[in-house]
Amino acid sequence: MTQPITKAIIPAAGLGTRLLPATKSQPKEMLPVGRKPAMQYVVEELQDAGLKQILIITGRRKQAIEDHFDTDPVLLSALKQAGNEAMLAELAYIQRDSHFFYTRQSSPRGLGDAVALGAKFVDGESCVVALGDSLIAAPEPSAPLRAMMQAHLELQAAAVIAVEEVPLEETHRYGIVTVKRDPAPPGEPIPIADIVEKPPRGTATSRLAVAARYVFSPLIFEALARTPPDERGEIQLTDAIKLLVQMGHPVYAWLFRPDERRYDIGNFESYFRTFIDFALADERYGYLARQYLKSKAYEL
Ligand code: G1P
Repeated sequence: MTQPITKAIIPAAGLGTRLLPATKSQPKEMLPVGRKPAMQYVVEELQDAGLKQILIITGRRKQAIEDHFDTDPVLLSALKQAGNEAMLAELAYIQRDSHFFYTRQSSPRGLGDAVALGAKFVDGESCVVALGDSLIAAPEPSAPLRAMMQAHLELQAAAVIAVEEVPLEETHRYGIVTVKRDPAPPGEPIPIADIVEKPPRGTATSRLAVAARYVFSPLIFEALARTPPDERGEIQLTDAIKLLVQMGHPVYAWLFRPDERRYDIGNFESYFRTFIDFALADERYGYLARQYLKSKAYEL
């Protein structure tokens, strides 16, 4: 029987330079998106997908992440004494049946290098990689990952990679995947023919962009160990996946369904968009936010 997947790695070591000064003293993954820090959405998505052991790859100025997922007996007892049940419920995410592990990437040597730091933690099992600055909005945010994990196990895949369609003029910002079936059907595994990290403008062979969620067999760590740094001295996860494809291992893309969407907080434009959409969709305050936006619309 194939072992269920229980381990996930969240790379969150990036410097957040594009979000200065907001990220001068706090990690970009801790910026609020509506009522929660961005990272909490990622962790809850993983927990809902049954991933109980979570390794977060951090770096300098990232201690706030550890504090957020740690229990805080002083705060909990103060809320209990005050009978503040509502706020205690807001902190229920800490009490969930998960184990958090941390390791640091001490210099920015790329996403591949960050994931490689998880080799000992993963210890020969399959694992999920979820980028800490990307959120999934969907009726059930953990549904894509759960389906990807199931496909990974059924197909004995080396990798299953979430992809989204992006405009042609934005392909140079992403890992771009060429699949063996065109057009790619959403919500099913499609064999990958090639993958290129951030192809120069005008050279992309498809509009399918790598979308921050991956399921890997342990082969990824062998591939990462054999992946040379790029011209900026960084080891790219995409280059290691390319190696898996070139070695003939089964690697699949998984296109999000129309009601599933990735948001990222990597720059102010995308962060504002993410915050606004999540605030508008908030079950408690969304109505007020929508009313406010409608009133503002007259001024725009
Ligand atoms: C990373 C990956 C890239 C992927 C993107 C969004 O790039 O290297 O392949 O398309 O995340 O998931 P970054 O945004 O860190 O530059």
